[in-house]
Amino acid sequence: GASGVFLRLKYHFMAPAYWINDPNGLIFYKGYYHLFYQHFPYGSTWGSMHWGHARSKDLVSWEHLPVALAPSEEYDLDECGGCFSGSAVEHDGVLYLIYTGTIIRGDKVIQSQCLAMSDDGIVFKKYERNPVIPAPPAEGSNDFRDPKVWRHNGKWYMVVGSCKDGKGKALLYSSEDLRNWSYINVLAESDGSLGSMWECPDLFSLGDKHVLMFSPMGMGEKKTIYLIGDMNYDIGRFTWDRMGEVDCGFEYYAPQSFVDPQGRRIIIGWSNAWDWMPWFQSFGPTSENNWCGAMSIPRQISLGSNGYLLFSSIEELKSLRTNHFRLTDLNVHPCQSVIPVHVRGTSIEILVEIQWASEMLDSFGFQLRCSPDGEQKTTLEYTIARQELIFDRTHSDGFSSGVCKMKINQMDQSLKLHIFVDTCCVEVFVNDGEQVMSNNIYPSIEADGIEFFCNGSDIRIVSLDAWNLRSIW
Ligand code: FRU
Repeated sequence: GASGVFLRLKYHFMAPAYWINDPNGLIFYKGYYHLFYQHFPYGSTWGSMHWGHARSKDLVSWEHLPVALAPSEEYDLDECGGCFSGSAVEHDGVLYLIYTGTIIRGDKVIQSQCLAMSDDGIVFKKYERNPVIPAPPAEGSNDFRDPKVWRHNGKWYMVVGSCKDGKGKALLYSSEDLRNWSYINVLAESDGSLGSMWECPDLFSLGDKHVLMFSPMGMGEKKTIYLIGDMNYDIGRFTWDRMGEVDCGFEYYAPQSFVDPQGRRIIIGWSNAWDWMPWFQSFGPTSENNWCGAMSIPRQISLGSNGYLLFSSIEELKSLRTNHFRLTDLNVHPCQSVIPVHVRGTSIEILVEIQWASEMLDSFGFQLRCSPDGEQKTTLEYTIARQELIFDRTHSDGFSSGVCKMKINQMDQSLKLHIFVDTCCVEVFVNDGEQVMSNNIYPSIEADGIEFFCNGSDIRIVSLDAWNLRSIW
């Protein structure tokens, strides 16, 4: 199995201890960025859901705050339920959290939308007339969760994830006062090919388009989807003309977006997925170390000139860079096919631009988290002829399995990679953020080497920058 000690992440957000899943209630309020999250404060597995809480001045360093919501009422007190995912808005200086109360009665899940408020952003009080939406509309079903609220033209709107007859959907509500809600319409739904249940839907405008982002169940390897299209508020219907994946990796789920004071649309996702996640048993590589799960780095999103989303790591993360290593204009000959990168460590950032002259069956890439004895390594390899970026974690540790493949939309004979490694999380941004791939690995601490490799000829490293990233904790 994977070796004994599991380092906690250095520059990713984690709970102080124990279990974490979806990011909730992302908002800038009274001078701080607030991040709430699905949390089980009594163990490193999923359990009755609380909202953990932290705040930050810069989205880089975080201060842990007391748990904001705990199961306590008839609509949210249940060992197998609790305070499920939701969002936050500010109105008249008050911070409102809108979440799903979940209880199980027999074999029936009862999910309702609830409200809690705070004047200081730290202590929250549940609304005495909860739930504000006690039951789903006829178009929905018992799966009825993850409210995301926003303001548009002087009104509040809420989108809630649901499903019916095996088709995922997003349901739209509106309100004047955040307390009384009217159902408007099915905002959007699967045609059968887009998942059987839509978790954590999020609708927002970006440039002159609208984006609907959600985490579908039942789409296999596709875990996070975005649709780009247009919103008709008169009928409460969103129509789309294109679709993409928010992240193509094994481990990225339930992203939520918000706009910050600089006007940036930022998303944070859970750096994990339910695939191997145990719900009620203690299992998983880090759980012996009393923690499980983390948030991705915050990503700024924008609309690319081709009409698809672009993702970039936020600027603020540059403040963590130290120990710069740089290479430029290096033609790699087949006889020197391995180039050591002279930065070692388990928390690293790499920026590289590669060009090539022919479209032959060549490949290049990195061995990440290499152990001194060569036993452990994680291969990130680009195959030019197949235009495929491959993340191979079959030799990463003793636990991880699977090869994650991502088709690259290759325009010319070059590739840019922006790689973030932080102990067990690896996030790879491709070609200025056209695509992103997040995967987890669990190598031992001494696996801290990096190599660039190249199979074939005529490959040129235009530039390669690498840094150690300092710990935020
Ligand atoms: C997504 C999700 C949400 C739900 C929460 C429960 O990962 O399943 O739909 O609200 O997790 O923790």
